[in-house]
Amino acid sequence: MTVLVAYGTTGGSTAEIAGWIAEELSAAGLEVRLLAAGAVDDVAGYDALVLGASMYASGWHADARKFAKRFAGRFADRPVWLFSSGPLDHTADDAGLPPNHQAEMAMRSLQAREHVTFGGRLTAEAHGWLGFVARRMEREGHSGDFRNPERIRAWAREVAAEIALTHRQT
Ligand SMILES: Cc1cc2nc3c(=O)[nH]c(=O)nc-3n(C[C@H](O)[C@H](O)[C@H](O)COP(=O)(O)O)c2cc1C
Repeated sequence: MTVLVAYGTTGGSTAEIAGWIAEELSAAGLEVRLLAAGAVDDVAGYDALVLGASMYASGWHADARKFAKRFAGRFADRPVWLFSSGPLDHTADDAGLPPNHQAEMAMRSLQAREHVTFGGRLTAEAHGWLGFVARRMEREGHSGDFRNPERIRAWAREVAAEIALTHRQT
């Protein structure tokens, strides 16, 4: 059983979330390939997919969006889970936020079973234009790391259990 964990990231925090998910799937005995969504050129050979994206301006990261377009319909017979990462507060943990429009479109293209939203991270250490925005947001009190590794890892363990169940049923 090989699972592809792919992600779209600009500042690296969604890549790190994908890494935590990959660790849990590996610990559950699954083979895992962890790749930037833009670096995936073939999806044959995977039994399941987890695709995650950071959110910018109410959209989904372009790499994940393009992935969903490129491989639309290719996962009809394989389970798919999506996650978004973004909110710079605790709403993702408190309220179970729905997918934004672009994530919803990706859900349809990839026939995903589920979508979940995790908190994001934006800190003043960010580089380039992101660092510029982050430092301004920090001054306004809107920066920080709102990711919740325990929640993310628990979700990944549920995904691993569902993959095992799906495999037993086929
Ligand atoms: C310019 C800008 C716009 C953003 N827009 C959103 C948004 O619309 N919704 C949201 O939840 N988070 C938004 N965020 C927060 C990012 O999604 C968050 O920092 C995320 O963790 C970044 O992930 P990455 O490091 O993988 O790129 C925005 C951040 C920046 C800098």
